[in-house]
Amino acid sequence: MSKGFTLWFTGLSGAGKSTLSEPVAAHLREHGHRVEILDGDVVRTNLSKGLSFSKEDRDTNIRRIGFVANLLSRNGLVAITAAISPYREVRDEIRKMVTGDGGGFIEVFVTCPIPVLAERDVKGLYKKALAGEIKNFTGVSDPYEEPLHPEVVVESDKESVAEGVAKILARLRELGYLN
Ligand code: ADX
Repeated sequence: MSKGFTLWFTGLSGAGKSTLSEPVAAHLREHGHRVEILDGDVVRTNLSKGLSFSKEDRDTNIRRIGFVANLLSRNGLVAITAAISPYREVRDEIRKMVTGDGGGFIEVFVTCPIPVLAERDVKGLYKKALAGEIKNFTGVSDPYEEPLHPEVVVESDKESVAEGVAKILARLRELGYLN
């Protein structure tokens, strides 16, 4: 059995976490890994249905995602998570849990400046948030605490999806996680 690990994406809404997670998952599957993606938007429609965007509820959401990721990675699977996960303390708590149970933990920080995110505005949320119509919107009116020691940083305003994917896979190879 190959060593399981959690590939933890963090970054602002629209930065590219989900976009990068899909091709990375596909590549890992092609190389014999079993992979599950825990996407923030999807988790909030089932496992975390009804949770708000208060700090308390975000922490609950992230702990739930971390709990499931840990179950998977300690059994040899790859868990890929793609939630904003804005608070450093909870991310670090999950890193400790996952590595303590024998899984790997690789944090991927996807960065993009707010003006570029507002320009992309795939979901139309930045326009509203910047107009003050959404309270507590991460990066605009709610905190985002950057990781201090992420294993990978992808600058999605400067790097293409293919470049970001290649960078993540190269790092996984370097860390000995690729089959
Ligand atoms: S997290 O903070 O708890 O990690 P999560 O990744 O699950 O967030 O959900 C973020 C998604 O919810 C965003 O991509 C966006 O579509 C939507 N969303 C709605 N309200 C907010 C808000 N106030 N702040 C951030 N994202 C929001």
